[in-house]
Amino acid sequence: MTDSSLHQRIKSFVLRQGHLTPSQKKAIDDHQATFGILYEPKPFNPLATFGNNKPLILEIGFGMGVATAAIAENQPDTNFIAAEVHAPGVGNLYKLIAAKQLNNLRIIQHDVIDVIDHMIEDQMLDGIHIFFPDPWHKKRHHKRRLIQLPFIEKITPKLKQGAYLHIATDWAPYAEAIMTELAQQTQLINSQPDPMAFSPKPLYRPLTKFEQRGLNLGHTIADIVFIKP
Ligand SMILES: C[S@@+](CC[C@H](N)C(=O)[O-])C[C@H]1O[C@@H](n2cnc3c(N)ncnc32)[C@H](O)[C@@H]1O
Repeated sequence: MTDSSLHQRIKSFVLRQGHLTPSQKKAIDDHQATFGILYEPKPFNPLATFGNNKPLILEIGFGMGVATAAIAENQPDTNFIAAEVHAPGVGNLYKLIAAKQLNNLRIIQHDVIDVIDHMIEDQMLDGIHIFFPDPWHKKRHHKRRLIQLPFIEKITPKLKQGAYLHIATDWAPYAEAIMTELAQQTQLINSQPDPMAFSPKPLYRPLTKFEQRGLNLGHTIADIVFIKP
């Protein structure tokens, strides 16, 4: 039995068709070979990919990739792999990587569940970023939410000792649900003294499009940072 069939598989996204601009398509065609990692069901080799063994962060669902590129640019001594299924965002991030020549950032255009199951080995990661995951507001869609206990249990072994999981959301009911899920496991502990407390916004996380939209709607942003002790 594979890992993903142990739990009912979460389908956390709906692929929207179209909207890929000619320049985004060109960016994918031009830069995938240099700055992309093709999905294949075997462990990925960070040393072969980056040419070094610097700390490695996985970002899940980078959207248009603006925050991703800014974080990678500000942290040249860390490597980043960023997973996204939405082609326009992938094209946009390739453009940003090429413009800034970010040698410490690679894109995987694939469902991150497969990536985690088959490409990321245990204790490979120094951190995981999940910024503004789709909140799936309607109750009947909650099953699509990425951050549920089986997903947390799937990603936790991939973190090294001392590594962190950082989630940000502007949807308060999702933030509470994430906290409730995290409270049910014992492998990660809250970075804050209060086990149910949200974190101050870490300085490395820039404002994203989804965050700005949430702020415009009057939402409060919750950062949740847990550590693997
Ligand atoms: C609400 S957007 C947030 C984007 C970005 N992090 C930001 O803050 O602007 C969530 C993103 O997660 C991506 N996503 C959802 N499930 C995914 C999965 N299983 N694998 C890869 N990407 C996924 C979606 O395509 C979408 O672009």
